Amino acid sequence: MEVTHVCVLLLMFWSGIGDAHVISNGFEGCSEHSNHNVSCGSVLNGIKGYFVNPDYPNDNADPGNCNIRINITRNDICQVRLDFLDFEMAQPDVDGKCKDDFFMGFNEAGTMPVLCGSIKEQHMYWDVVTKPSMVNLSIYRSPFRNGQRRWNIQIEQIPCCSRGTVGNHILQLLCSH
Ligand SMILES: *[C@@H]1O[C@H](CO)[C@@H](O)[C@H](O)[C@H]1NC(C)=O
Ligand SMILES: *[C@@H]1O[C@H](CO)[C@@H](O)[C@H](O)[C@H]1NC(C)=O
Ligand SMILES: *[C@@H]1O[C@H](CO)[C@@H](O)[C@H](O)[C@H]1NC(C)=O
Repeated sequence: MEVTHVCVLLLMFWSGIGDAHVISNGFEGCSEHSNHNVSCGSVLNGIKGYFVNPDYPNDNADPGNCNIRINITRNDICQVRLDFLDFEMAQPDVDGKCKDDFFMGFNEAGTMPVLCGSIKEQHMYWDVVTKPSMVNLSIYRSPFRNGQRRWNIQIEQIPCCSRGTVGNHILQLLCSH
């Protein structure tokens, strides 16, 4: 794991329209930046990283749970942003329910929407109230292999000062068919 400490001053241009990319570049003091990948059973320490399946970018067929935890230690962190860069799981059933493979996340604030199927370039914000705390992410792969199983989720801890109007929501959700 590589963790570097850098002190930066970012100039922010406030769009006011909820553009997450713009408002996430707020003023920051000394912060910890890291960029690494975690998989089953690991803890992500640091402000940014990727949750990938074992063998990524290859498919991984092993059934069972794959859990990680995001270690929130900084007091100025208010949200976690998840970017589903690549996500292929069993498709939901005809009622839109994820009954084979699924993704879920939770912390003391509650449980994220359950996701499955094919998701690409979608993102989600999740509130973090208690600090220090953990956000748990869990992917369940059923014993019934039903298509590809592969994921790459970018994880970023978002400082409170850059929250703007971004609520605890999913901007777009493909898994609703
Ligand atoms: C982590 O994953 C990203 C994309 O998924 C890749 O570009 C990067 O090289 C990986 N980093 C490490 C340290 O393996
Ligand atoms: C979480 O981060 C803190 C501060 O860096 C560290 O002391 C602690 O060991 C980490 N927890 C885990 C489970 O890695
Ligand atoms: C997150 O996972 C850890 C380790 O599996 C567990 O001890 C903890 O209770 C979980 N957190 C929540 C909020 O359920």
